[in-house]
Amino acid sequence: MSPPLLAVERLTKRFGGLAANEDVSFNVAAGEIIGLIGPNGAGKTTVFNSLAGFFPPTSGQIRLDGQPVAGLPPERMAALGVARTFQIVRIFKSMTVLENVMVGAMLHHPAVRVATERALSALDFTGLTRRAHDPAGRLTVAEQKRLEVTRALACEPRLLLLDETMAGLTQTEVQEAVELVRRIQARGIACVVVEHVMEGIMPIADRMVVLERGHVIADGPPRAIAEDPAVIAAYLGEEYRAPGP
Ligand SMILES: Nc1ncnc2c1ncn2[C@@H]1O[C@H](COP(=O)(O)OP(=O)(O)OP(=O)(O)O)[C@@H](O)[C@H]1O
Ligand SMILES: [Mg+2]
Repeated sequence: MSPPLLAVERLTKRFGGLAANEDVSFNVAAGEIIGLIGPNGAGKTTVFNSLAGFFPPTSGQIRLDGQPVAGLPPERMAALGVARTFQIVRIFKSMTVLENVMVGAMLHHPAVRVATERALSALDFTGLTRRAHDPAGRLTVAEQKRLEVTRALACEPRLLLLDETMAGLTQTEVQEAVELVRRIQARGIACVVVEHVMEGIMPIADRMVVLERGHVIADGPPRAIAEDPAVIAAYLGEEYRAPGP
C-alpha cells in the first residue's frame, strides 16, 4: 500500500515548559479535506507552523509520501507542495493583488511572464480577477482572506493548510469560502482546514481531528465528532448540532 500524502507522527512542540503539541498523530490522504478544530490555544496553528517548516518540531516526524520532512525550512516545504495561509493575513498591502499572487507563482515559475499568467489564472479560479490591479490593502476582509488562498494556490500545492480563512466572514461569505474549498478539492488538492466556524467545516470535511491542550482527543467523520461526548465537553458545547441527513 502506498503511504498517505501526509503522515504526522507523534509530533511534539515545546515552547519552554509549555507543550503546544504533544504526540500529535494523524494522516491526510491525497485530495482529502481534514478539519482541524479545538479550543483557543489548543495548538492548531502550531501544527501548521511545524508542517510548513516555520520551526522544527521538538520531536516526532512528518512524512510526505512516506519521506521524512520534519525540520525542513519553509521554502523546501513549499517546493515539496505544502502551502499555507495565515490566521492573521500576511499580504503585501501596498502591492497589487496580482503582484501578491505572483509571489506564490514565482516559486515554480521564476520568469515574470509565466508567473503573471499563472497568477491571473489563480485569480480567475478564486473569483478575484476584477481586483487584480487594486492595491491589496483596499480589499475587504473576505477578499483579503481569499487573496491569501489564491497566493497559496499559485504555489501549486498538493497540500493546502488553511488557518481560519472563514473567521470574520458573513454567512454568505462563509458559503462562498466553503464552495471554494470544494473546488480546490475537486482539483485534487488536499486541505487541512483550521476553523472555528463549524457550519463552514463540518459539511465539507472527510474527517475531523480535534485538539485539546496540545493532544488529539478525537479523529473521525464529522458526524461522529459532533456527537462525541469528549469533543462536546472540550469544545463544541451542547448547542452545536450536526446538520440532519
Ligand atoms: N512562538 C510561540 N512561542 C511561545 N508560545 C507559543 C508560540 N506559538 C504558540 N504558542 C503557545 O502554544 C499554544 C498553542 O498555540 P496555537 O497558536 O497553536 O493555538 P491555536 O489552537 O491555533 O489557537 P487559536 O484558536 O486561538 O488560534 C498556546 O498556549 C500559545 O500561547
Ligand atoms: Mg491559531
